[in-house]
Amino acid sequence: MLEDMEKLVSLCKRRGFIFPSSEIYGGINGFWDYGPLGVELKRNIKDAWWQDVVQRRDDMVGLDCSIIMNPKVWEASGHLGGFSDPMVDCKATKERYRADQMYVFIYLFPQVNHKGEPAEAWLAGLGASPEDASAIPEKKAAKLAKKFGKPEQPPQIVPYLELPEADREKVIGPSTDDRGTLTPPRSFNLMFRTFVGALEDDSATAYLRPETAQGIFANFKNVVDTGRVKLPFGIAQVGKSFRNEINPRNFTFRSREFEQMEIEFFCKPEDAAHWYAYWRKERFDWYVRHGLQSDRLRLRDHDKDELAFYSTATADIEYSFPFGVSELEGIAHRGDYDLTQHMKFSGKDLTYFDEESKARITPHVIEPSAGADRATLAFLCEAYTEDQVGGEIRTVLRFHPRFAPIKAAILPLVKKEGMPEKAEALYHALRKRFAVFYDEKGAVGRRYRRQDEAGTPFCITVDGQSLQDDTVTFRDRDRCVQWRVPINQAESTLRGLIDGDLTVPAVS
Ligand code: GAP
Repeated sequence: MLEDMEKLVSLCKRRGFIFPSSEIYGGINGFWDYGPLGVELKRNIKDAWWQDVVQRRDDMVGLDCSIIMNPKVWEASGHLGGFSDPMVDCKATKERYRADQMYVFIYLFPQVNHKGEPAEAWLAGLGASPEDASAIPEKKAAKLAKKFGKPEQPPQIVPYLELPEADREKVIGPSTDDRGTLTPPRSFNLMFRTFVGALEDDSATAYLRPETAQGIFANFKNVVDTGRVKLPFGIAQVGKSFRNEINPRNFTFRSREFEQMEIEFFCKPEDAAHWYAYWRKERFDWYVRHGLQSDRLRLRDHDKDELAFYSTATADIEYSFPFGVSELEGIAHRGDYDLTQHMKFSGKDLTYFDEESKARITPHVIEPSAGADRATLAFLCEAYTEDQVGGEIRTVLRFHPRFAPIKAAILPLVKKEGMPEKAEALYHALRKRFAVFYDEKGAVGRRYRRQDEAGTPFCITVDGQSLQDDTVTFRDRDRCVQWRVPINQAESTLRGLIDGDLTVPAVS
């Protein structure tokens, strides 16, 4: 299991999974590019999600909406009024912080300061919890302790937003040594604004969507009118969303441009509790099925005071990343809030005619909302392993075969005696069905290591024996077990191994 994110960030760069966006110009904070291996990995994750929640179900249809919509959508959804984070600027350093992620540590020192007052320091730290936030104040407090003596008690910790206004003046910001440099918290809307058409005025203002969900609600009537769906049913969408996050951080975890995989599942009000429980479990199990260890995953129910006012229940699926336990996906019971809002703002009837009760109802909604980039990051963290093979440390990405960017590498043992020709013929045959890779460069052990680092679950080698009896060796990435397979069964063997219908033999 990965403990140091830097190792993953550097592997991602070195092997072409993820690069900082526009890196040759110094990058741009909060934006990332997926390289040749990364794009395959993320696409496989999105495809697996789409197959499992849309194509293999009878009660789900898909949608692909535009990113820029009529701005009224965001009035109705509440994003124009309410989708904001409290932000604080430091007047001295021009740094910007999320006030809800700032904690103030109040230290009392035994000696008095030069004015004869008791020496105290109000030091701000940043983080999702006081534990995360403690590093900055601890360092500064240690400096002050040299002057005023060691604090007799642990500091009192107060969330910045809970400080009385008058006390905010006393706070020393995270990047300064002076008091009073922080501005009062201001509300900062997270939506990116743009203009549609030639005019740059209020009438032309539009927004990049901050979630894919609203496109689904806006199309609810269109989907129902196509006549294919009956309650209960869901509408799913995968696509880019944009949020001008104040503090993008933790690699791709909090980005300003990211992809969501969202479902809005519509049902009768009396069935909503059942479907909420169903999706909560179904989505948790999906991550476990694809390799996230259940003891690193957690389903956390929101406390009453965390719930949006219209929601009766929300649970987060959280994963223990090296930087802390953080949200992968949220499952929210949204009641009839969204459809009701869109009826109010659009003036259109978005009710559903229920054949059984012969009445029009406003369906309730269960929303499992996942992030494709966060899922990709979690699967990367989980897959990252260092182990020893033949006395050598190797780095392996143990992806689920369904997600692996390359399913198999086809390798001639040596670059002579007709082995490359036979291996290439196999490569061309397999390429029609699978993402495979041909490699004849360097020692075979080195080629295996390269594939281990790319997360390729199987290597298929053509050797001297292959030329005589038409068999090849299969090697599995995780245990390095090798076994022989007739070349004409290579395709079915690979298919079986990827689908889980075949297992790797216990020993070579
Ligand atoms: N429609 C509900 C909604 O958007 P959310 O909890 O704000 O809910 C859902 O977002 C998911 O989208 C999150 O669980 C996360 O996986 C992903 N997500 C949200 N903000 C993100 C960001 N800044 N960077 C990467 N992924 C993000």
